[in-house]
Amino acid sequence: MSYVIGVDLGTSAVKVIAVDRTGQVQAEVSKTYPLHQPKSGYSEQKPEDWVEQTLHALEEITRQLPSSAIIEGMSFSGQMHGLVLLDQENKPLRQAILWNDTRTTAQCRTIEKLVGKKRLLEITHNPALEGFTLPKLLWVKENEPDLYARTKVFLLPKDYVRYRLTGELQMEYSDAAGTLMMDISGKKWSEEVASKTNISLSLCPPLIESTAKVGNITKGLVKGLDNVEVFAGGADNACGAIGAGILRNGKTLCSIGTSGVILSYEDRNQLDFDGKVHFFNHSKPGAYYTMGVTLSAGQSLNWFRDQFAEGATFDELLSSIDKIPAGANGLLFTPYLAGERTPHADSSIRGSFIGMDVSHTRTHFVKAVLEGITFSLKESLSIFRENGKDIHEIVSIGGGAKNDSWLQMQADIFDATVVKHESEEGPALGAAMLAAVGCNWFSTLESCSDSFIKVKERFTPNQANVKVYRKLFSIYQSVYVQTKELSEQLKSIRQ
Ligand code: XUL
Repeated sequence: MSYVIGVDLGTSAVKVIAVDRTGQVQAEVSKTYPLHQPKSGYSEQKPEDWVEQTLHALEEITRQLPSSAIIEGMSFSGQMHGLVLLDQENKPLRQAILWNDTRTTAQCRTIEKLVGKKRLLEITHNPALEGFTLPKLLWVKENEPDLYARTKVFLLPKDYVRYRLTGELQMEYSDAAGTLMMDISGKKWSEEVASKTNISLSLCPPLIESTAKVGNITKGLVKGLDNVEVFAGGADNACGAIGAGILRNGKTLCSIGTSGVILSYEDRNQLDFDGKVHFFNHSKPGAYYTMGVTLSAGQSLNWFRDQFAEGATFDELLSSIDKIPAGANGLLFTPYLAGERTPHADSSIRGSFIGMDVSHTRTHFVKAVLEGITFSLKESLSIFRENGKDIHEIVSIGGGAKNDSWLQMQADIFDATVVKHESEEGPALGAAMLAAVGCNWFSTLESCSDSFIKVKERFTPNQANVKVYRKLFSIYQSVYVQTKELSEQLKSIRQ
């Protein structure tokens, strides 16, 4: 039997899946690695940890498959924006600075000054945000000049891992779009942005399509994978979209991993939303997507579990939330644990629980955390709707699709039908689909998605809950405005 492999290099773990020609996931392995957060706002990982754990996961998955298995191709999905700096020997010069690292507020203001806010939007279709790669490059240049001087090239996380598996060094468009250095419509590095911010274009790697074949797995690196064909892959959100069939106009995705996104397919490269949501190249050649991001979505639930319910599984934690009515008896949570992106690009804001009283149990807190994460995603959805998009159906993937009570809550808060697919593998499935098309199993991503993706269940809004949540959402929205100043003041206390 033939298989393709999808590798999703996430923030908490690398997930590797093997998919057969019918789209069934026949084997799956996950390997975790640590996140280093030495200071408030800092978030780094060791590139070597990614490589080691990816190799372990690949070795394990080949052992899980039958000995007659033929692995034809492999592709990648990866956490976006992270800065990996390589020296003359292509060795990492420091830990990678990740997408949820917010140390670069000053560099964002510098970019706006040097390039001009309007011009930056015209070229990159996005505003300067702390999470993007260019502000991180400028931070290293200013704060670690010796190291910057030794830099030959920069890469993004999954492009680095792919380089280590193949020896081929490139970056693909969907991830390069999140660097803030690419001309999104022209699909090339922007000479203007580079020269105005004094970054040498020689630091930028060659650009390729997500579907391009980059080479083969280096012989002898992983037993059983000698010479497997490797295709470039995409940003995790682009791959999540492919894996959920977001390949045509009118399709919308809710993806909840460490971060959470609401993503909408676009076939036009126009500036529709004035930088209020991100605008990136899709991994489907010639297509785009717009997206709003909640920085700490699944991470808020992880954090709550680790601090207040150590040892509990997520199923245990969420098992009784249906017994509590919508609104958690007046307890409201904002998920700003690491600042926020959409709709408030604010690295200083921090989260809050508002409205605690003695009636609240731990389950009320769990419900409030889930509601807060979902309200935050609704803010992105509202931007799309206010700008004329009609959104009545949303495909949900990732951690947010693993629990039916949370899926129903999404339908009630979004006031839309929420669709759960049979496989909620998310970005790893999208990566596997890029490999399946690369290996000519299908002629297009659309035909691959029509064959691989099957709807399992639809959750329709419960009108009584929709009403409660509508009221609560406007209170939720005012929490940001009313806690902004307090969060600013608390900044001097935070380490
Ligand atoms: C998107 C973003 C996150 C990461 C998570 O802009 O920063 O969704 O891609 O892996």
